[in-house]
Amino acid sequence: MSRPVLQVVAASTRPGRKGIAVARWVVQLAEQHGGFDVELVDLAEVGLPVFDEPNHPRLRQYTHQHTKDWSATVSRGDAYVFVTPEYNHSFPASLKNALDFLHVEWADKAAALVSYGGVSAGLRAAGALKPVLAALRMVPVVEAATIPFFQQFLTDDDQFVANEQLEAGGKAMLDELLRLTTALQPLRASAG
Ligand SMILES: Cc1cc2nc3c(=O)[nH]c(=O)nc-3n(C[C@H](O)[C@H](O)[C@H](O)COP(=O)(O)O)c2cc1C
Repeated sequence: MSRPVLQVVAASTRPGRKGIAVARWVVQLAEQHGGFDVELVDLAEVGLPVFDEPNHPRLRQYTHQHTKDWSATVSRGDAYVFVTPEYNHSFPASLKNALDFLHVEWADKAAALVSYGGVSAGLRAAGALKPVLAALRMVPVVEAATIPFFQQFLTDDDQFVANEQLEAGGKAMLDELLRLTTALQPLRASAG
């Protein structure tokens, strides 16, 4: 099997967001890991409107070009890392919206979470996200990169510079993501 495609999904979309720096670090870490072909999927660039399809996504009867394009993007992925901030003790609406737009495109794929925040390290966002991923038949990886007081890792020009612990945690997360992605391959093949 060729290397699976890992999509690193940057969830925050607001002007001045810090999350894109975290997502770029995850991309770099995943490229160094070597187990995946890595793509950055920036929800700010994807630019979806609030969910506007008339049919349930499981039917795949998409009426809008933006949904067809989003479906094509997500279909390319064999695994995902969602990089999420914590907004009001949950994950941002931009990510829920992007998830809700599709259904089968997400199914039977492994997903890992990178969350960042203050003292909470975005853990409430990660906790809220997991049942949503499960509802879409994604398989959440237990190993996660959780980043408390994440501002300490940002340089003056907003580069994210991780310490050894974060790098080690991120690598363990990617190892487990690859293990599950490989294990899920026969299931996805049999589902056609
Ligand atoms: C609408 C909003 C709600 C927030 N709620 C929380 C929160 O519940 N917990 C937390 O740790 N930080 C919270 N923060 C602070 C964020 O951790 C911080 O602003 C971070 O930079 C957000 O990620 P972003 O820059 O990628 O958008 C909130 C920020 C915003 C904009």
